[in-house]
Amino acid sequence: MEEYSKEVIEHFLNPRNVGEIKDADGVGEVGNPVCGDIMRMYIKVKKDIITDVKFLTFGCGAAVATSSMVTEMIKGKSLEKAEEITNINVAEALGGLPPIKMHCSNLAQQCVKAAILDYRKKHEK
Ligand code: FES
Repeated sequence: MEEYSKEVIEHFLNPRNVGEIKDADGVGEVGNPVCGDIMRMYIKVKKDIITDVKFLTFGCGAAVATSSMVTEMIKGKSLEKAEEITNINVAEALGGLPPIKMHCSNLAQQCVKAAILDYRKKHEK
């Protein structure tokens, strides 16, 4: 476990915002082509601000930690700002990821984008 930062291990052991939102305004689901892991993310949006977010993942420890971190990063942010977050930002916020695990951080960031896209499709003309 030495190659993982304290933050990654902490978020893996105590992931934030795990679960579903039944009346979500947007839902994103993505699969990681590298490993086949999948993730689903639910968002609530009010006046262009993400007021709540939850995720479920069938993925590795790095996927759990990055999704946990990304949910903390986007909560309270505007849709636009949330879309600007890159997987590198998420990995940095976690104190880095082993290079072999960087692909796992794509899942979290793409899932945010997919949830926002779904929200836009349903609520914007
Ligand atoms: Fe699949 Fe990390 S190994 S997301």
